[in-house]
Amino acid sequence: MRILFIGDVYMEQGRKALKKYFDQVKADTKPHLVVLNAENIANGNGITLEIYKELMAMGIHALTLGNHAYTRRDAPEVLELPYIARPANYGPGAKGREYVTLQFNDKKVTVINLLGRVFMRDQIDNPFTKIDELLGRINSDYVIVDFHAEATSEKYAMANYLDGRVDALVGTHTHVPTADACVFPQGLLYMTDVGMTGVRYGIIGGEIRQGIRKFLSGVPERVNPEPVGALQFNAVLLDLDAKKIEAIHLFE
Ligand SMILES: [Fe+2]
Ligand SMILES: [Fe+2]
Repeated sequence: MRILFIGDVYMEQGRKALKKYFDQVKADTKPHLVVLNAENIANGNGITLEIYKELMAMGIHALTLGNHAYTRRDAPEVLELPYIARPANYGPGAKGREYVTLQFNDKKVTVINLLGRVFMRDQIDNPFTKIDELLGRINSDYVIVDFHAEATSEKYAMANYLDGRVDALVGTHTHVPTADACVFPQGLLYMTDVGMTGVRYGIIGGEIRQGIRKFLSGVPERVNPEPVGALQFNAVLLDLDAKKIEAIHLFE
């Protein structure tokens, strides 16, 4: 079972980079299933129905989200659509799916999205106890987890916690790809952060001029996207049977 996992697609330039590279990557890697982190795909915040339809038509099979899952006003309705896994460790009553299970031939693959707690703002449940609970009731041939978190320590703790219990754990959220794609001792395919898909030299997708201004003044501003410049596409190919992970980093 080969799965292509695409890191945070950031706003309009992210969708542009996705369109530019996706067909070629698909032809080269021949994945059975494609999963994409869509937490920033619409205006930096979540996903719209229109973009959801576009992604499904392109052949993306499941979407994961992150700390921006609920920032859009239409999130409660959009998150009810099939094939979207929102972070599972929001509390009782949170709209959307705790996980998505895909069928490929006679095999079931479950995709789980978890949110980290270190340096993150939302008052969410413990991702470690949440994954225990989920794994207690999920019965699939394969399980892959997108751990949307800031701290590398939290990501490595989760990797060790889940080695031998799930097939792959890939990180998202920092928008910067890490150089540590590896196989853990009990077979877990792992990478701390897949990196983003969008502008290459922006400030993790945000506008350069504005980002520098904010660091100089200390005055907070709502992030604008960097509208121009070279693009990048970041993903990983997970071969769950051969136990191989390959980072894909393409750029202009
Ligand atoms: Fe993101
Ligand atoms: Fe995020």
